[in-house]
Amino acid sequence: MKVSVKVPATSANLGPGFDCLGLALPIYNEITVEETVMPGSGIEINIIENTNSYDILSVPKDKNNIAYKAIELLYNFIGQTASDIKITIKTGIPVARGLGSSASVIVGGLMAANKLLGNPADDAVLLSIASEVEGHPDNAAPAMFGGFCLASMEDDGSVVYSKIQWPENWKLTVIIPDYELDTKISRSVLPEKISLQDAAFNLRKCAMLVDAVYRQDAEQMKKCLKDKLHQPYREKFIKGFKELNSLLDNNEDILGCVISGSGPTILVISKNNAFEKVENDVNNLFESLNVSCDIKTLSVENEGTKVI
Ligand code: HSE
Repeated sequence: MKVSVKVPATSANLGPGFDCLGLALPIYNEITVEETVMPGSGIEINIIENTNSYDILSVPKDKNNIAYKAIELLYNFIGQTASDIKITIKTGIPVARGLGSSASVIVGGLMAANKLLGNPADDAVLLSIASEVEGHPDNAAPAMFGGFCLASMEDDGSVVYSKIQWPENWKLTVIIPDYELDTKISRSVLPEKISLQDAAFNLRKCAMLVDAVYRQDAEQMKKCLKDKLHQPYREKFIKGFKELNSLLDNNEDILGCVISGSGPTILVISKNNAFEKVENDVNNLFESLNVSCDIKTLSVENEGTKVI
């Protein structure tokens, strides 16, 4: 028996919501989990590349694979050992680009394995395991449930999350460069301590951002997609980020321009079909900077992980 699931990409942080906000995007990985035919044959991990353009050589195909690690924790949860399973990952989400490819395979592996086992774990357990493997819940929650999610990992490892309807006409343009940025590297440059002023800045932006989405208030949203906790330290890795922010600053239909997750993808949120101009501006800017990128304008994926 085997189970396949389709899991969306995600864009975490949205500026001020470091490690707690994220939304799902309609780019997908497909993960299949099955029991291997021969008992005792161990684990088998296959990666199938869905697009030609993304490097998947860095994805481990042994017990270090994060989908396997998550499945192992699920088996431990039900008092069993994860042996003799085959995991197939068909990749559509670019790796190491800040689009939640890791969370996607973790969530996909877990949800497929859970169904294969007869659904012993509920969503709360699966989200908690996924967030433990990932280290934070901001990609895992929207990957599982879709939409725009707020998520908080509690001290006991449980995760509280909430999903808020994302305004239909707020479009998401992702600028995916042709180079990778490892999340570990992107997190390693963050300071251990921040000033009270910077913490207060992010608190008010994040609180007002959630309210702006809830009330679908674009004018308020424009003031909220700002950050002092991670972007200032990471922008040196993100080619074109500063320039693009300056370029888009005066367009009243642009709600914001932020680093997607830990980068290097840039996320631009706009309304009233301004995305056409955004795409054009990005094309010109990135060409002048000599940076190759893939530009896509997307709507939020509201459904999350689906069994296929
Ligand atoms: N919140 C995470 C970060 C997302 O910014 O490092 C990347 O996994």
